[in-house]
Amino acid sequence: MRNRPKITVVGSGSVGATVAQYAALKELGDIVLTDIVEGVPQGKALDMQESAPLEGFDSRIIGTNDYDDTEGSDVIVITAGIGRKPGMSRDDLVDTNVKVIRQVVKEVAARSPEAHLVLVTNPSDVMAQIAYRESGFPAQRIIGLGGVLDSARFRTFIALELGVSFEDVTAFVLGGHGDDMVPLARYSYVSGIPIDKLMDQAAIDRIVQRARQGGAEIVNYLKTGSAYYAPGAAIVQMIESIIKDKRRILPCSAYVTGQYGISDLFLGVPVMLGRNGVEKVVEIELTAAERDALHKSAEGVQRVLSKL
Ligand code: LAC
Repeated sequence: MRNRPKITVVGSGSVGATVAQYAALKELGDIVLTDIVEGVPQGKALDMQESAPLEGFDSRIIGTNDYDDTEGSDVIVITAGIGRKPGMSRDDLVDTNVKVIRQVVKEVAARSPEAHLVLVTNPSDVMAQIAYRESGFPAQRIIGLGGVLDSARFRTFIALELGVSFEDVTAFVLGGHGDDMVPLARYSYVSGIPIDKLMDQAAIDRIVQRARQGGAEIVNYLKTGSAYYAPGAAIVQMIESIIKDKRRILPCSAYVTGQYGISDLFLGVPVMLGRNGVEKVVEIELTAAERDALHKSAEGVQRVLSKL
C-alpha cells in the first residue's frame, strides 16, 4: 500500500525541477520527475534527493524517461515544451507546445486515470483546454497556472511599494495568463486594508502594469528562458491545496460553464481547490470595466484556441 501522494512533474527544466524541489521541501508526497531528455531528470532528482538529509525531508524523488514510472499519480504537473525568449508573447509558443501537450497528456492520462492535471506550459489556458479534450478527464480535475503566479507578482510589487510584509498582502488577478490579464486592485488588501487607502491611483496603475508584464520582465533579464522560482512556488501552492484538501480560494485557469457570462473555456477565475480539484468556481462581483477586461482576456484565449 502506498501511503504518500504521488506527484509527477513532466519536464525537468527549471520550472519542473523547482516544482519538484519545493514539493519535496514541503513533503507533499513522493515525486517523479520525467523528461524525454536522457539523464537530466535522473541527475536533478538524485541531486535533490541527496539534499534530503540536510533539509530534513522524506519525500522520495526519482528521475526517469519512462512514462510507466508515472503510473497511479495523484497530481501531474505538466511543464514540458518551450518557454519564451525576449520579445515573444506566450501565444507565440502555441504551435510547438500544443503538439507536446497532446502527446504528454495521452501518455500520462492512460497511466493515471484518477490524477489531477496542472498545466503550466504556455499558453497555459489554451493548454488546459487541450488537456481537457485529450484526457477525457472531468474538467474539475484540470487546472492551469496563471492567477496564483500573476497575483504573487502583484502582491510583491504592492509590498515593495509600501514597505510592508509580503505575507500581509492579498490580491487577485483574473483572466488568461497573458498580456490581457486582469489585476483587480479593488480586491487587493494589506491586512484587510484596501490598497487604495494606502497608495494613490498613479501608484496602483504603475503596479498593475508591472504585474501584467511580470513574466516578460524576467524573460528580458534572463534572455535564454523565463521565470521559475515564483512559478514553481505558485504551482506548489495549488497542488498543496488539492493534496491536503485545504479548499483554498485561488485564482487558477479553470473550466467555466457560464460564470462571468463565459462558457466552455479555461480561464483564470477564483476557484476553491480541494481533494476533488475545482470544488467550485467562485463568482465575485465585477464592475462593468472589470467585466469587459475579463471578456477581452477570454476572447484572446478563444482566438488562439480557434486557430488550432
Ligand atoms: C511567467 C511564465 C511562467 O509568467 O508564463 O513567468
